[in-house]
Amino acid sequence: MTQSLTLPRPDDMHLHLRDGAMLQGILPETARDFARAIIMPNLVPPVVTAADAIAYRDRILAALPEGMAFEPLMTLYLTEATDPADVAAAHASGLVKAVKLYPAGATTNSHSGVSNFDKVRGVLEKMAEIGLPLCMHGEVTTPSVDIFDREAVFIDTVLDPIRRATPGLRVVMEHITTKQGVDYARAGGDDLAATITTHHLIINRNHILVGGIKPHYYCLPVAKREEHRLALRAAATSGEARFFLGTDSAPHIDALKEHACGCAGCFTATNTMPLLAHVFEEDGALEKLEAFASRNGAAFYRLPVNDAQLTLVKSATPTEWPEKIETGAGPVTVFDPGYPVFWRVQD
Ligand code: NCD
Ligand code: ZN
Repeated sequence: MTQSLTLPRPDDMHLHLRDGAMLQGILPETARDFARAIIMPNLVPPVVTAADAIAYRDRILAALPEGMAFEPLMTLYLTEATDPADVAAAHASGLVKAVKLYPAGATTNSHSGVSNFDKVRGVLEKMAEIGLPLCMHGEVTTPSVDIFDREAVFIDTVLDPIRRATPGLRVVMEHITTKQGVDYARAGGDDLAATITTHHLIINRNHILVGGIKPHYYCLPVAKREEHRLALRAAATSGEARFFLGTDSAPHIDALKEHACGCAGCFTATNTMPLLAHVFEEDGALEKLEAFASRNGAAFYRLPVNDAQLTLVKSATPTEWPEKIETGAGPVTVFDPGYPVFWRVQD
């Protein structure tokens, strides 16, 4: 029996597209299924000014294959030198949909991020005034804090104080990985939301470490214990407006993943929608996938829901996808859930 599900075309509210040959190679993987995506600005050098964002958006659009429709939603990378007036102008022109905060040193290409939060007060206050969302990578970088505790400590010591000090600031807790993240998001008002990745709904920390180290499951924030994965599943499949999809699909070439000091990032752009259909069906919540992937993110970012549609179909044979995407920069391994998936996106 064939089962099918049609949704408004989904949006990916947290995506790494990189640049150059990598961008060229992986952009179709997202544009095939998604109408829009919030584009992360952690290039080298980062996308800091409105002028940087215009140039990057033009490179993305130039890399888009003929006949594919895709709208990049641009972000700026917050530094201690960010000019509030540049941010406000970039927002007013419609160019920029969010500002991204990386604590300095928290993850890939985050060395230009924020160390002293007092230095960004002016920008945060301007953002609160104009309603521009702040996307937060929510991990402290304090060496003495255990990597599995860094999200929970960030919530208490950085996120909550910033929100209290900046009334009206609209915040997206990016790629939450813990029960504490879910609980904090739920305790907020409609100025607080959280993205959840595909892979954090599927793997826990055992997937990374049991039976040999699995570099393709290593990402930041690192996957936590099973109880946290279950809390994320419950949040994502709840349909609550504050939770929406941000895949954090983050390509690195195999040579840099399968390495003595491997890069963080799971690449899920290729198979996210089939994986999500599997997960939501497994939890008896297939009808909530539309809220999670197509509606809640658009509503938070004050965008219309996409007119175009996407149909997922379930058949009797497992869906096949390439093991790797061959890019001009090198091969990128596609996330493997470790079980067969019978859903696919209808051509
Ligand atoms: C991201 C990357 O590679 O840019 N990696 C990751 O593990 N998620 C950075 C990030 O979002 O933390
Ligand atoms: Zn990311």
